[in-house]
Amino acid sequence: MGDGVAVFFGAPAAYRTNDLNFEYRQDSDLYYLSGFEEPESVLVIAPGHPTEKSVLFVRPRDRAKETWNGYRCGPERAAAMYHVDASYSIDELATRLPAYLETSDTLYYAFGANDRANALVTEELKRMSTARRRSDKGGMIVKNPALILHELRTIKTPYDIEGMERAVRISGEGHVAAMRYARSGMHEYEIEAIIEFIFLSRGAQFPAYPSIVAGGANATVLHYTSNRDRVPDDALVLIDAGAEVDYYNGDITRTWPMSGRFSPEQRAVYDIVLAANEKAIGMCRPGVRYNTDVHDETVKILVAGMIDLGILKGSLDENLTNENYKQFYMHRTGHYLGLDTHDVGFYKIEGDWRELAPGMVVTIEPGLYFAADADVDPRFRGIGVRIEDDILIRKDGCTNLSEEVPKSAAEIESVIAEGRATREPLFA
Ligand code: GLY
Ligand code: MN
Ligand code: MN
Repeated sequence: MGDGVAVFFGAPAAYRTNDLNFEYRQDSDLYYLSGFEEPESVLVIAPGHPTEKSVLFVRPRDRAKETWNGYRCGPERAAAMYHVDASYSIDELATRLPAYLETSDTLYYAFGANDRANALVTEELKRMSTARRRSDKGGMIVKNPALILHELRTIKTPYDIEGMERAVRISGEGHVAAMRYARSGMHEYEIEAIIEFIFLSRGAQFPAYPSIVAGGANATVLHYTSNRDRVPDDALVLIDAGAEVDYYNGDITRTWPMSGRFSPEQRAVYDIVLAANEKAIGMCRPGVRYNTDVHDETVKILVAGMIDLGILKGSLDENLTNENYKQFYMHRTGHYLGLDTHDVGFYKIEGDWRELAPGMVVTIEPGLYFAADADVDPRFRGIGVRIEDDILIRKDGCTNLSEEVPKSAAEIESVIAEGRATREPLFA
């Protein structure tokens, strides 16, 4: 960033009802750079400043507010605790910011969803624009820090990888518990409770995203999250759920029969998706293009499978060209995974789809979705299958971080059967 100045704002609190907010979760960029977890915080990085090259603005200590709403670090302690050169009260932001901004003509700031932050930065840019003829420096170029920072976040460090392994392991434990403890007659939310019990009891702070527990045709709604229905005994249940552990996100999907046994139609669809998932994971290594090579291979396997089942007519090539398959496979094969579930990072660089590189973590999540009213043989209607794993790219290949979660139909049936045969409680 040269002598550019970067400014990062903490995530604003999100209103839930009346005077209560959603549980607070720090902005991933600010957290990645500072580790600071409180709202109303700002991180400034100013390499051109003589003494304060990194500064945190934080909420002041307040006995009454801390009694009601929780502890605050306070400006007196923030610099030492978070390894920045200086820390000040957030109340001093507007008066102190110019001293940092005016160390460079380049400001790194991401205009985005935080309207208060956008307004404050806009004011500063206006002020500097007026003052510029006499101030010599400040506010001539605005760059999005994503160009540098999201590139850093795309390639995980050993510390990140350790965090990802923990988040994915706990996510996987939740999925195994769901297979083992779900019982005939349960509602989607009861299975959600099993999974999220495991997440939280293993130290996760939150589910990484609203857990999807979708019985039967609900599984054909990609981001179904209401989770209110009873799962019919002859249906599949698709569970897409991940734990967030110390800001790192797991993102795993498994699909299995509520009865404990796949029907022939369910099994046929399942095995096609499984073949696509396994083939794609097998391809993951540095130099392979995720958005073309890997995605295109999943499409081929899914399309060939649907032709075999008589769901698609015509040849493989015809179907790849006419894209009729998009009625049943309408999403990409996956995304980067990290501090955000749909993690930051660029998929295309200078016109080319990007190659996988060591340190990336991506999901592989092919699926097939035959809605209740789909134009297919009625035997396949209401079947939705997705199988999602979290893959760490290594120098010589990849590691499937969610490998421990049962995936073949036989393995899944045996875990369900074993779970139902034991009488052990979910917690003792
Ligand atoms: N759970 C969201 C996704 O798989 O992308
Ligand atoms: Mn998912
Ligand atoms: Mn995903």
